[in-house]
Amino acid sequence: MQENFRKQITSLGRLLMVFGLLLVTVFMGIFYLKNNPDALKSSEVYEVLPADESEMVLLDAQTIAQSGFINDEGVSGVIQNCTQCHSAKLVTQNRMSKEGWEATITWMQETQNLWDLGANHGKIVAYLAKNYGPERKGRRQNLTNEDWYELE
Ligand code: HEC
Repeated sequence: MQENFRKQITSLGRLLMVFGLLLVTVFMGIFYLKNNPDALKSSEVYEVLPADESEMVLLDAQTIAQSGFINDEGVSGVIQNCTQCHSAKLVTQNRMSKEGWEATITWMQETQNLWDLGANHGKIVAYLAKNYGPERKGRRQNLTNEDWYELE
């Protein structure tokens, strides 16, 4: 009888110990989160825009300056969409025509999980082609104001 009672006490003690340890762990977790409220948030700097967002969230001048992108129309959409997977440098070190940027974006969409840019697509490509277009053209631009005649 006494032996049985001792066994019961011992297992009760173990149970209390496990429970106590669990409680301490939970309290430590709560304490940590209280002091680091951002611990569970992802560390991404910029918000991902839903693809169907027609208006991009306009960023403030300081954020734009820190991004390394030229501040011009459409820059907010570029920063929010193009700095999620790689640095801005990877974008700004490039010089491409409109077609080149289109091709790069298509390539990323097909192979790198880049999302549909939705209504911002056109604005982003226009921004990139204007501010990060080819610096020097290898050949002169086509003449646009000539009246050509057909060769017989
Ligand atoms: C979903 C992830 C993702 C997003 C978002 C993304 N890219 Fe990329 N991009 C990649 C990956 C992956 C690479 C290849 C990186 C490497 O080679 O190290 C890449 C490479 C590039 C390159 C270099 C291509 C080359 O030929 O070297 C450019 C330029 C680029 N991205 C531009 C952009 C632009 C502009 C946007 C916004 C419209 C964008 N990226 C958004 C994933 C992404």
